[in-house]
Amino acid sequence: MNIRGKFPILQKHFSVDGKELPLVYFDNAATTQKPESVIERVCTYYREENANVHRSIHLLGEEATRLYEQARVSAARFIGAADHSEIIFTKGTTEAVNLAAWAWGRKNLSPGDGILLTEMEHHSNLVPWQLLAQATGAHLHHIPVADNGELDLKTLDDLLSRRIRLTSFTWMSNVLGTVNPVRQLCAKAHEAGSLVFVDGAQGIAHARADMQDFDCDFFAFSAHKMFGPTGTGVLYARKTVLDRMEPYQGGGDMISAVWLDRAEWNEAPYKFEAGTPNVAGVLGMEQAMKFIDETGYDIIERTERELQIHLAGRLSELSGLTRYGTAGNKGPVESFNLKGIHPHDAAHVLSRYGIAVRAGHHCAHPLMRKLGIPATVRASLSVYNTRDEIDYFIDKLKTTMSFFA
Ligand code: ALA
Repeated sequence: MNIRGKFPILQKHFSVDGKELPLVYFDNAATTQKPESVIERVCTYYREENANVHRSIHLLGEEATRLYEQARVSAARFIGAADHSEIIFTKGTTEAVNLAAWAWGRKNLSPGDGILLTEMEHHSNLVPWQLLAQATGAHLHHIPVADNGELDLKTLDDLLSRRIRLTSFTWMSNVLGTVNPVRQLCAKAHEAGSLVFVDGAQGIAHARADMQDFDCDFFAFSAHKMFGPTGTGVLYARKTVLDRMEPYQGGGDMISAVWLDRAEWNEAPYKFEAGTPNVAGVLGMEQAMKFIDETGYDIIERTERELQIHLAGRLSELSGLTRYGTAGNKGPVESFNLKGIHPHDAAHVLSRYGIAVRAGHHCAHPLMRKLGIPATVRASLSVYNTRDEIDYFIDKLKTTMSFFA
């Protein structure tokens, strides 16, 4: 299967200093590239199917509504939700966390209740809960990260004994690549009477998410990190939890009746989707799910594991390079620093060779503080990357190190 050939942008070359350089795209944790089928799906919607949904009774409007709702059924099937009404379309993972924090949290938390997070979270799975704690008087607690980048679960029972009502953690760390033990954490949190939110933003492109197997109460992901368009994502919420949630935003479509001084709510999931949704994005996301299904998570996992082992092995050859995150179960993400070279400088030099990596704090200030560093260089791979690209990258890392020596 020629997976790489399905991505037009991967044929791109840059002209730098008179040389033609191929794009080596190692910034997949920030956003993945899009296959032609996804690009085409978005274009087809605008070319042939564009109309508002849930409003217009003309033929085009009915067709757009049917396609949009069919995408909800596809999304439910993709993550093994029990029912398509458990799928709320959002702008992405960040909006999904904010939605859950606002719509569930404000109604269900009281002063002194606990929210359990981890030290490895992205800001999008920290700040919404901080806002919720400020609004409700709830307390925040954090599972520590051990030196190898895994969660240190020694204190978990103690933490869960602190009236925890909601536990939220990432499936896979965007900095360290650590894959967290979702089932174990969900089971433990439930035993302690806590609901569980799983941030699936980083994991979804790499492994199958199954809501029945995970047994979480909330799950969120963004289309753009799984080969789909930006500005679209999903919040899954278990039916029994949805019934205990207030609206998030007010506006069209989320109501059943409105008076001048009050309103009644539409049923879930529409109650949580105020305003005209990103229909093109949702259809593009559905196509991205098809792309993953056709490729197969088994192929994706096997290919990426081989690439990750190769990359980690080659990085370990370089003296003066410190790797962060050596968990036994990790995705294809490598964060590191080069002795005496600022990560931004390293990324800048690599960029002159056509290599795209991310340098910075990766929206994880608390984790950077824990590691005692301001930033890292991060290479994050996808199924379309190759061993040759990794070897080229290592070669150019060596050049970068000698450049600053
Ligand atoms: N969350 C994205 C990243 O880690 C933007 O790069």
